[in-house]
Amino acid sequence: MIKVPDIIIAVDGWSSTGKSTFAKMVAKHFSFLYLDSGAMYRGVTLLCLEKGMITNGVIDEKALSDALNAGFDLHFERPDDGSTQLFSGERNIEKEIRTMEVSSYVSPVSAVPFVRAWVDERLHAFSAGGRVIMDGRDIGTTVFPNAELKIFMTASDEVRAQRRFDELKAKGNATPFEAVLANLKERDYIDSHRETSPLRRAADAYELDNSDMTLHEELVWIQGLIQGKFGILE
Ligand code: DC
Repeated sequence: MIKVPDIIIAVDGWSSTGKSTFAKMVAKHFSFLYLDSGAMYRGVTLLCLEKGMITNGVIDEKALSDALNAGFDLHFERPDDGSTQLFSGERNIEKEIRTMEVSSYVSPVSAVPFVRAWVDERLHAFSAGGRVIMDGRDIGTTVFPNAELKIFMTASDEVRAQRRFDELKAKGNATPFEAVLANLKERDYIDSHRETSPLRRAADAYELDNSDMTLHEELVWIQGLIQGKFGILE
């Protein structure tokens, strides 16, 4: 078993590359706290949708800014099963934030600079204790530019769309494959072309293309990386 020091591991990459599955597995294996930054953007998007702040695709930024400043309570809780769940006040919103509707609006919402600043502030607060693995789009570039280990995940478009399609299908959602692929490409485009903290690989990030890898192979890969970088064996 490798002993991993109390570091921050940043996992970035394209949509549906399996970042959260990978990060959760690493968190469990090495006893790290897993934080899903995308869930925060999804939580803010759910707030917009529920409060009618998006009309014909246009976000009412004034209303959103007022709602965030009024003390919107979005936070993570850790139930006994070791998972990390997103709450809006008392309400567990893990399921609601994963719908196609939220997925369709989350990229424009997350492109709003004051939304990013609001989320970043919370991500730093949640990570205060260290020993965290966080996934997202700008963790290694903006949120934790000094993270000791940075991973950038990629996979082919078809593999990613198939994964997302299977996930939605398992939840009873019949969105056609072509629509899933289109949503994925659209999100990739917006995420990598926005002005504030666009998705890009940090210069010091290690690339993981998992198009043809099993989860176990991904674990072996990061174990090798950690061992080589930190050189600590238990
Ligand atoms: O990882 P995800 O698909 O749940 O992320 C949802 C959206 O949030 C994604 O389209 C882009 C945005 N996001 C972001 O801009 N920055 C992050 N650090 C994480 C997610």
